[in-house]
Amino acid sequence: MEQYAIKGGNPLVGEVEIGGAKNAALPILAAALMTDETVLIENMPDVRDTNIMLQAMESIGVITNRVDRHTVKINGSQITSLSITADFVKKIRASYYLIGALLGKCGKAAVVLPGGCNIGSRPIDQHMKGWRALGADVRIEHGMILTEAKGPLKGNHIYMDMVTVGATINVMMAAVMAEGLTIIENAAKEPHVVDLANFLNSMGANIKGAGTDIIRIKGVEKLHGTEYAIIPDQIEAGTFMFAAAATKGDVTVKNVIPKHLESITAKLQEIGCEIEESDDAVRVVAAKGLTHTQVKTLPYPGFPTDMQPQIAVTLGLASGASMVTESIFENRFKYVDELTKMGADVKVEGRTAFIYGVNSYTGANIVAPDLRAGAALVLAALAADGISTVDDIRYVERGYEDFDEKLRGLGAQIEKIESERDLQKFQMKIC
Ligand code: EPZ
Repeated sequence: MEQYAIKGGNPLVGEVEIGGAKNAALPILAAALMTDETVLIENMPDVRDTNIMLQAMESIGVITNRVDRHTVKINGSQITSLSITADFVKKIRASYYLIGALLGKCGKAAVVLPGGCNIGSRPIDQHMKGWRALGADVRIEHGMILTEAKGPLKGNHIYMDMVTVGATINVMMAAVMAEGLTIIENAAKEPHVVDLANFLNSMGANIKGAGTDIIRIKGVEKLHGTEYAIIPDQIEAGTFMFAAAATKGDVTVKNVIPKHLESITAKLQEIGCEIEESDDAVRVVAAKGLTHTQVKTLPYPGFPTDMQPQIAVTLGLASGASMVTESIFENRFKYVDELTKMGADVKVEGRTAFIYGVNSYTGANIVAPDLRAGAALVLAALAADGISTVDDIRYVERGYEDFDEKLRGLGAQIEKIESERDLQKFQMKIC
């Protein structure tokens, strides 16, 4: 099993190019099958989750053609099945976006219940409520989500009981070609929700209000082909920004939309980092010591839950007592036991982690429990004195393209290893 071997203790310094947003790419790929014309998608991140999504689409006859590593052509004119049963599909939560897309286009879809990162219970009641409101019959049977509309889907007024990215996206896709007007209230405002709406509009959809609480979708008869570039990844950018902070470095993240990073830059400033912004780059200078703060994860524009482990790892090295409250997923502190092995002083009570800053972490053999926590533990290892190994890096590879290579570009001593022998080689190399 692949691991990262990391020798920590060096500040990360330099520039890093941020790729396309995974969480925008996943629904955009699914939505691309909604037209019979060819769609060209650029700035596609080459990560495990997007590759599994492409495979899932191929399994039902969608033609996918990689023009280069970050550009893909999709053609959904030859769909052979509306049922996605393959076991590998369960590996990604976003496979349920294929229901929204297929239901919207063909009035019927069946997809195995998704898995994804184990970060808490992840109900899909709001997705189901939305599809039902549009007129579909929705059932869960034998581990599959089955949806079918007897006639054309009809626009409706849908109030989401909580802010949910997935359900907002899934209902938006199903409603795009429904008859009449659909209004989604209490909609998610995340940048990737807006990116999907922009993408669908570029295919001829009529979606207004994405990025606000109320999204209005006027059904259109059909969608057409388009060429579209995915937005930069807010969370990848934020991870490198916190890598700068945790290692007391100086990193410029390039190819970003600074507006999407506001909650992240605000917290970095609060803990003592200097931030310089330009049109499409943000520089984080963290030469001085870090100070404590409090943070609560919230839907956008609040502080993202997907950045919670990265800020916690950084606050573990800040002076004083910090508090991190997770309000979106109840099981997102699984990395704390691993961090404790590195000398962190963290106590979790309910949904809050109480963090008492230590001067430094020490290298240890740790395991990535999920995608973002895995990335955060890599940051901890980069900041730690000595050598660490981070196991189960397949989680990290779900959402970060060339993570180790990009970190090496900033001066990190990190390598992928597969055996004890590789670890010994790494140790000899860095001595
Ligand atoms: C998306 O998950 C992201 N995944 C997650 O990123 C991210 O953490 C999350 O949004 C929040 O920003 C993708 O985009 C593929 P939600 P999603 O629906 O859509 C509850 C990563 O690391 N809820 O916004 O599953 C739910 O339990 C991943 O990249 C219901 O109760 O999240 C949660 O408490 C991990 N019923 C809250 O809403 C529903 O029907 C928000 O979930 C739907 C959600």
